Amino acid sequence: MKLRFRENGPYVLDLPEGTPFRLNGEERRLEKAKLALCRCGQSGNKPFCDGTHKEVGFQGEAGEILVEP
Ligand code: FES
Repeated sequence: MKLRFRENGPYVLDLPEGTPFRLNGEERRLEKAKLALCRCGQSGNKPFCDGTHKEVGFQGEAGEILVEP
């Protein structure tokens, strides 16, 4: 699994569309083949990124972590 962190943006997990996950005890499925998680702390839809990082001028380096089973 690869966790990317976009320059000045969110953490992004690349997973197959429809991947099940649980949020606060609620079962959900990914609607897209990506899961973007807020890194700036300002999203109005936490833990997901809603684009607010652009408005607040969040700055952070790009990178990635590759986790192999
Ligand atoms: S990283 Fe996008 S809203 Fe926080």
